[in-house]
This record gives sequence, structure tokens and C-alpha cells, in this order.
Amino acid sequence: MTPYTVLIVGMGKRGLHHGAAFNANPKFKVTGICDIDAKRLDDAAAKLGNPRKGSDAAALAKAVKPDVFCFCTLPALRLPMIQAALDAGARLIAFEKPVALTSAELFAMRDRLRQAGAKAVVSHQHRYGKHYQKVKELVASGALGRVHTVYGTATGWMTHMLSHLIDYTCWFNDYAPAMWVLGQAAGRVKFADNHPSPDYLAGFAQFANGVRGVYECGAGAPDQPEVSKWWGKNRIGAQGTEGFAEVLTNGGWRAVTKGGGYQSGDGAMNYDLDMPPYIQQMADWLDDAQRVHPCNFDHACLGAEIMLALQRSAAEGGQVALPLASGADEQAMLKARMSDKPVLVSCEQNRKEFGLAACRT
Ligand SMILES: NC(=O)c1ccc[n+]([C@@H]2O[C@H](COP(=O)([O-])OP(=O)(O)OC[C@H]3O[C@@H](n4cnc5c(N)ncnc54)[C@H](O)[C@@H]3O)[C@@H](O)[C@H]2O)c1
Repeated sequence: MTPYTVLIVGMGKRGLHHGAAFNANPKFKVTGICDIDAKRLDDAAAKLGNPRKGSDAAALAKAVKPDVFCFCTLPALRLPMIQAALDAGARLIAFEKPVALTSAELFAMRDRLRQAGAKAVVSHQHRYGKHYQKVKELVASGALGRVHTVYGTATGWMTHMLSHLIDYTCWFNDYAPAMWVLGQAAGRVKFADNHPSPDYLAGFAQFANGVRGVYECGAGAPDQPEVSKWWGKNRIGAQGTEGFAEVLTNGGWRAVTKGGGYQSGDGAMNYDLDMPPYIQQMADWLDDAQRVHPCNFDHACLGAEIMLALQRSAAEGGQVALPLASGADEQAMLKARMSDKPVLVSCEQNRKEFGLAACRT
């Protein structure tokens, strides 16, 4: 068996996770790595079997012609990487959330991928955690009765976390499309971050199957006191006519169902456990076109449109219909329209994490 060859662009935290997981799977071999930071590139090469190195992703891709083009660059860099992958003839493109910072970029990426007929996956890999799997299993089993609501909250800010929250709720809701959203946002501190975001965004989605989505992300989102790791204070779940089930990213799962009463179990987000199945399912899809990866681009796009529409709604007011009719720059819209009023936090730890001054009252 000849392994699928892999080029990875971006040798930061996530690039290294991907590199180690690809090389640990006999179906893959990392044959190229790229970064604009020479030291990171050298350090990574030593860990990843000394593949070919380069600082120009497009040129390196053309030289090594990988089966898989994987990029783990920061959110501002997406479309040029998709183009580099397609120009080099990659069969599968794997990249990091969030899918795109703007709907203009999202639609350009989608057009090019569809035109080329290329497979693409987005790294919403928390779902492989046993606690996430348990909640999905309970929702799918019917134990909650008729599911009417899915929800996700995270204290981490939007461009880091909202993509995860929405994707897992869409998974619980079998990827029914959303019809409209309504959102609000507050606080401008994190616009300066490399994951640029309003400090707090909250909103609703109406799904075509009648299910309501409820989302909160950032400084105003509620604390989850059961979880100590701040980035793990995410609560994602579903409510039905006969119960609820929810996962805490770093705090296990819990549920109440009509037949089962209160149940709970452990589980915490763990890259070492979550990456291997995410990578294996890429091999499955490459081997067999019928075995479509659950983190496929079309699934991720449904969530990305919700996320971007929430931002449009926060900027413009009113509801925003989905699917979006045309692309726009939601980052610019928010920056132009959001008030200067500082965000109001939900707990002291959020104040600290957002670098906000101590309460004046
Ligand atoms: N799925 C998850 O659980 C998860 C967790 C953390 C981060 N992420 C996402 O992963 C992405 C990367 O995050 P990270 O923490 O690894 O970032 P990072 O800053 O550690 O790494 C990014 C790397 O990309 C390199 N880079 C920048 N421009 C480049 C270019 N033009 N060509 C080649 N390399 C370039 C940088 O030098 C850096 O080494 C982000 O989108 C982030 O949101 C996902």
C-alpha cells in the first residue's frame, strides 16, 4: 500500500498536531511542510521525519504534488491556500476552522472547490470525544422525544469558538439547513486579536425542521463552574419534549431522559484522542467516495453561513435570511456599525480573559 502524501502549511500548534497524526496513520505520509517562520519549520521537520521544506506554499505544493493539502494557518489566510491546493491537483484539502472570516471569502472558496470537484474537510474534531459521541447517540436514539432546541455557549471569543458550537449543534440536528438568524454583539476589544471577534455575540437560528438554535460566545456568555479550564467552558446540547442531553467540552456529559432519568459521564477534549479518527476518515473518503467525511466542507459551510449571518444581523439589525444571497465582509460591517460601549461580562474570569478593566461600581 502506497500511503497518501500530505503537505502541511503552518507549523504552529495545529500544524504539528496534524503532522503527528498523519504520520501515525499508515495510510498517510507527510512529504512536505511549509511555514514562513524558518525556526518553526526546522523544529517541525525534525519531529515529522524531515520532509521537504519550503516557505512558499503554492510553489512547494506544485513541487511535491501532495494527495492531501492541509493548511493550519490563522483565520485571515484561507482562499489563497485553497487555490494553491487546487493548482497543485490535491485530491483532498484539510483545513482549520473557522471556515472563513467573511461570506465573500466563503463563497469564493466554495465556488472554486465545487468547480474543481475537490474534497475538503474542516477540523471540527471535538466531536470525536466520547462525551460528544454520547450526546449525539442520545439525541439520535429518540430518548429526548421530539428535539425542539439545540444550543451552544462558550466563554472563548467568536472566531475561536463559534464555529465549533454551531457545527456540533448542526450535527445533533442532522445538518438541517437554517432559514434565518437574529443576532446581537457587544465589545470591540477582541477585534484586535488574530481571531478577530466582537467580545460577545449571541443569537438565534431557525432551522428548516422547526428546531431552534441558541448561541452565545464570548465575555457575556455564562460561566460553566463545573469546568476549570477556561477554553473548555463550552456547553453544547439539545432539548426535546422528554429530556435534554449536553456536553461540556472539558467536563463530560449529562442528560435527563424520560426512561433513563438523570445520567452523566466523563470526557474532556483531547487532541491525542480526537485527531486519529478525524484523520482516518480522510483515508476512508479518499479510498471510497461513498464514505464521505462527516467534517466535510458542505457541512462546515452550513455552520459558517449561520455564523456569518449572525454577524450581519448584529451589524445591520433585524433577521437575516439563509442561505445568504451574496457575499459580504461581515468583519468590516461589525467594525463599522458596532457601538463603542464596552461589553458587560458574566463572570470575573471573563473580565480577565478579555483584558477588561476592573468593575468601576
Ligand atoms: N480545531 C481546533 O481544535 C483548533 C484549536 C486551535 C486552533 N485552531 C485553528 O487552527 C488555526 C491555526 O491555529 P494555531 O494555533 O495552530 O496557530 P499558530 O499561530 O500556532 O500557527 C500558525 C502558523 O502559520 C504560519 N503561517 C502564517 N502565514 C503563513 C503562510 N503564508 N505560509 C505558511 N505558513 C504561514 C505561522 O508562521 C505559524 O507558524 C486557526 O485557524 C485556529 O483557529 C483549531
